[in-house]
Amino acid sequence: MNLLLYGAPGSGKGTQANMLRTHFGIPHIATGDMLRAEIQAGTQFGRLAQPILAAGQYVSDEIMIAIINSRLSQADSRRGFIIDGFPRTIPQAVALDSLMGGLGRRFDRVLYLKVDTDELLRRLSGRLVCPKCQRTYPPKTEACAADGSALVQRDDDKAEAVKPRIEIYLQKTIPVLEHYRGEGLVSEIDGTGTIDEISRQVLAAVTAPTTNRQTA
Ligand code: AP5
Ligand code: MG
Repeated sequence: MNLLLYGAPGSGKGTQANMLRTHFGIPHIATGDMLRAEIQAGTQFGRLAQPILAAGQYVSDEIMIAIINSRLSQADSRRGFIIDGFPRTIPQAVALDSLMGGLGRRFDRVLYLKVDTDELLRRLSGRLVCPKCQRTYPPKTEACAADGSALVQRDDDKAEAVKPRIEIYLQKTIPVLEHYRGEGLVSEIDGTGTIDEISRQVLAAVTAPTTNRQTA
């Protein structure tokens, strides 16, 4: 099963990816999580990426394509994967088509979590994350349920970064959806409702037949 999660900042990609990872037993490949791990580890690349993420801007296509290329080549990806946060631009989408082709893989589904801007702003302003395992939690949660770490706010959830994140998504990432709509792969899911309700819709969409004539 090869899945792509698509949606605005705060639409619930990470939340639903966790459910899908458990359900299908396949890795969750989240480019934002990978970048934050580099920042946290203090690598040279992490030091370069940190101000870009904190400002709500995008890391260059060239670097992101190299990162996803290397990740998809790892052994655990052979069973399938859930990609979250990539592609965010048309050049990234074109590169991913070519990488998938080279691996002899196709996406089974592109899951678009649709959430209005007011709700996105509300979620991002209160979100807390575990600095150790990167799980996300709603406002006022005290500690990570998985490892007990004290939760923190993400740098890019601070007020000054949220607006640029949504603007760049509208400008550069919305066109990516049209790219996949053309292939008949997109399932649009109302991302407002309880997390469990949305999970049920996501699973139903994954198992529904596509309009895409190509086989996986
Ligand atoms: P990334 O980490 O991918 O951030 P994002 O796309 O902005 O998305 P988020 O992680 O903020 O939101 P989400 O959709 O995962 O929502 P979540 O499940 O947490 O990327 C970060 C940065 O890295 C980018 O800005 C860029 O700088 C860089 N980057 C990454 N990939 C790149 C690329 N390909 N190219 C260039 N740059 C790249 O949910 C949000 C909150 O809502 C949580 O608190 C959650 O508990 C809550 N919630 C979830 N579902 C519900 C619900 N149904 N009802 C109520 N609350 C809910
Ligand atoms: Mg996320």
